[in-house]
Amino acid sequence: MADRKDLEFTYSLIDEIFRLSLGELADFSGAKYDGDFSLTLEQAQRAKHEYIASSVGIGRGRRLLDLGCGWGPLLHFVRTRGGEGVGVTLSSAQARSCRRHGLDVHLMDVRQLRRDTFGTFDAVASLGAFEHFCSPEDYYEGRQAAVYEDVFARAAAVLPVGGCFYLQTMVFGKNMIPVEEVSIDAPRFSNGWYLALMQHQFPGSFLPFGSQQVIDAASEHFSLVESSSGRLDYIETIRQWRLRFADRSLRKTAMKARLLPRYLASREFRLAFASGVSANSVCFERELLDHFRFVFRKR
Ligand SMILES: C[S@@+](CC[C@H](N)C(=O)[O-])C[C@H]1O[C@@H](n2cnc3c(N)ncnc32)[C@H](O)[C@@H]1O
Repeated sequence: MADRKDLEFTYSLIDEIFRLSLGELADFSGAKYDGDFSLTLEQAQRAKHEYIASSVGIGRGRRLLDLGCGWGPLLHFVRTRGGEGVGVTLSSAQARSCRRHGLDVHLMDVRQLRRDTFGTFDAVASLGAFEHFCSPEDYYEGRQAAVYEDVFARAAAVLPVGGCFYLQTMVFGKNMIPVEEVSIDAPRFSNGWYLALMQHQFPGSFLPFGSQQVIDAASEHFSLVESSSGRLDYIETIRQWRLRFADRSLRKTAMKARLLPRYLASREFRLAFASGVSANSVCFERELLDHFRFVFRKR
């Protein structure tokens, strides 16, 4: 599993640029266009929240736990609906930002969650975090399935029978190559090179092999209610993010200048944040990656 150091690298480093580019309470996971790319990014993220609300039940008096809550977009939505949201993240900058906005967020590893940590919930959600739960080491040492099963067991422990868990995650797609071919030394622009760039952007993270692996891991505690691919929607989401990140502002320029020493000193940093290509978009286009939305119900 990606640890706190990995998540601080991926998310806390970009905290200020993220908030300046996308907004204080913005989503950092695939939006829901359902193929209608005339929607704005904000409308598509809103459509995702509405879909989650109708799938798991969000509303007055209902409690939702967000596993990997980012900058708090879903928790904020829950609050506007009169519900109570609790979030956990492993990025200290995200936790601080969420708290500044009055959200109940804890700097905590999902692996530590127990029924008595925050009590029970009516629903659980996790968007864009499952990608970090299994590390390459976990995979090589044969623990991948066990890591995912453990996360589902923890989610089940806080839900009543019939309670729902909304999960969205990237998975390896139908054209995934053998893992041994993923290397930053592979020919530039090859599948292996693009996937390796992603590994640098998300250190300590590894993906499930297709949606079935996720469904299998859930099966001891949850029945699948619904699943759909959000791959094309994710490509559009990333396109919109890149436009917003590229928008210039004085504060962003100052911020980037502060990161310059790190850029010059660290190859890891350059590979993760300044490769000049959109590795995740290309991986989605080539179907090396896919993206799924699942609604699970506790049995
Ligand atoms: C791509 S962001 C998604 C954020 C948010 N769910 C959204 O949709 O905007 C991934 C989030 O998962 C969190 N995360 C990853 N692994 C975690 C772990 N083991 N425990 C707690 N949070 C974790 C990160 O800190 C980050 O907040």
